[in-house]
Amino acid sequence: MTRTSIIGGNWKMNLTLTLAERLAQELRNRLGSHRGGQLVVFPPFVFIDAVRRRLRDSAVEVGGQDLHPLPKGAYTSGVSAEMLASLGCTRVLVGHSERRAWFGDSDARVAEKLKAALSSGLKPVLCIGETLEQRQSGATESVLRRQLETALGAHGAAALSDLVVAYEPVWAIGTGVTATPEQAQATHAFVRSEFARHFGAAFAEALRIQYGGSVTADNAAALLSCPDIDGALVGGASLDANGFTTIARAGARRS
Ligand code: PGA
Repeated sequence: MTRTSIIGGNWKMNLTLTLAERLAQELRNRLGSHRGGQLVVFPPFVFIDAVRRRLRDSAVEVGGQDLHPLPKGAYTSGVSAEMLASLGCTRVLVGHSERRAWFGDSDARVAEKLKAALSSGLKPVLCIGETLEQRQSGATESVLRRQLETALGAHGAAALSDLVVAYEPVWAIGTGVTATPEQAQATHAFVRSEFARHFGAAFAEALRIQYGGSVTADNAAALLSCPDIDGALVGGASLDANGFTTIARAGARRS
């Protein structure tokens, strides 16, 4: 089956308001009427509104990098799913490895956040990935299985129909060391087989799995030509409009 590609730009904790607005405008100019694949950028919370205004009615969606698991209340600095939706966000990252490493998001917390996203109507991008140590000790599959099973919990296939999974090996994020297309393809095939086991073959066939970890304009096409790699989640290279445009076009060629 053909899965529509999805390319994400995770801006992380970068830029200033002026620079974020400029990048959004550049993306609008280059990709505003992009066809053949979905595009979404994840700016820091404080820039979402400004970025969204510049990308309104364009092909580039806007999402949040994280969300609080609860809808509202005395949770200083928390940002709820409803707040993101009210800014025009359509998607949200859940369980990014930097959230897990820097902010202590456990598998259980990731599961709560996924549930909050699903019940608010935000489409989640569930991020999973192993560390270098885990890969070297042969634990990749068991780590990914645990991350998936805890996050997906008791959700049925119907609730997960808008789910996107981002496979992001921690050792490849921001390091300049990309998984080879062969390594990424093999792991994506494993992730898809896990979904087939839990939710059936049709669900697994339709699921989109992004690769993330040092994706650049130079290596995107090779990664995206693998049968089980349906998109990319791009950090550093998404801060450059030209680079992100090249990656978006590689995604479109796959669609
Ligand atoms: P990177 O980040 O492209 O800078 O490696 C990817 C990510 O963390 O989503």
